Amino acid sequence: MTKEELKIKLGEVLDPSASKPLSETGGIKHIGIDDDNVVTLIIGLESDNDAYTKKIKRDLARIVKLDLGFKGLKTEFQLNKLDDSILNREVKYIGIASGKGGVGKSTVTANLAYALKRLGKKVGIIDADVYGSSIPTILDMEITKPKGTKEQKIIPFKKDDIELISTEFFMDPTKPLMWRGPMLGKMLNHFFYDVEWNDKIEYILVDLPPGTGDVAMDIQKLIPDSKMLIVTTPHKSASHIAVKAGFAAQQLNHDLLGVIENMSHLDHKGERLNIFGEGGGVIVADKLNTDVLASIPIGQPINHISIFAADEEIGVDYLGLANKLLKTFE
Ligand SMILES: Nc1ncnc2c1ncn2[C@@H]1O[C@H](COP(=O)(O)OP(=O)(O)OP(=O)(O)O)[C@@H](O)[C@H]1O
Ligand SMILES: [Mg+2]
Repeated sequence: MTKEELKIKLGEVLDPSASKPLSETGGIKHIGIDDDNVVTLIIGLESDNDAYTKKIKRDLARIVKLDLGFKGLKTEFQLNKLDDSILNREVKYIGIASGKGGVGKSTVTANLAYALKRLGKKVGIIDADVYGSSIPTILDMEITKPKGTKEQKIIPFKKDDIELISTEFFMDPTKPLMWRGPMLGKMLNHFFYDVEWNDKIEYILVDLPPGTGDVAMDIQKLIPDSKMLIVTTPHKSASHIAVKAGFAAQQLNHDLLGVIENMSHLDHKGERLNIFGEGGGVIVADKLNTDVLASIPIGQPINHISIFAADEEIGVDYLGLANKLLKTFE
């Protein structure tokens, strides 16, 4: 059964909070089917009153498990009044995943944002790397307190016309990560549903946490229509885990845009030095049945801590990558 067919079937279920079927309320926000035949749903309701959610959960489970024979059902609810949230607009999401930490995922995310901006696109970044959020540092931004609108929406931070929301702005830096845990799920939901992005935002890049574990998967579930980039280094150990990250994304039905091999080599006096080995990007792309979209060499920007200028060689590499991505989207 395809997701489209499932959507039609579930559309008949009554939303008790609106007294209308889900097909009319537009309440089926996301359907995922994983390899174990477990269905994940995000359902929008007018009210998440316990009586309503219990009833609709029962009705959905009856169809999904009893009638259609799926092995399990996970249902999450959100409120329809958040309908103006970014998830319902024509925004294109690009998730950046890596599997292994430290391979340059955040650096790639930030430089790609600049490249897209330089090509005339309006870009936002969600720094969802809860364990090591670093985009504000990479963009050379001061950590200040976030501000909200009267409607309790978060106003994104801004640097060079790129909008940004990052866990870093919401964390007490003196508290250990352990204390942060319980807040995280809630906070990340806000990042996806309650941010007052600029109306004209076209692309949102999501810097995902490393790994293929629960947190990475949970966040990927929040961006149902996201397409994924996989970052790896040429090293075998990084490529091995990057493949797993790619498979995890595919399991959630995210399309893979391709692979970026970062720190691919060092250009030294006209010679190409393979400091971190060779071939990781191609290995990952082959296993995931996709392409290497860019090989970014080892290098440091001249006038910025992490962002390459448009006329620096690596800045040009990022423009090339951004151009390729725009072609697949437009
Ligand atoms: N192409 C490159 N050449 C040289 N240094 C790089 C390159 N890409 C990233 N780095 C550096 O490597 C370090 C790790 O990069 P970054 O923080 O972007 O990785 P990450 O995958 O996001 O890591 P984490 O798992 O901690 O989030 C940083 O110091 C960054 O400046
Ligand atoms: Mg990072």
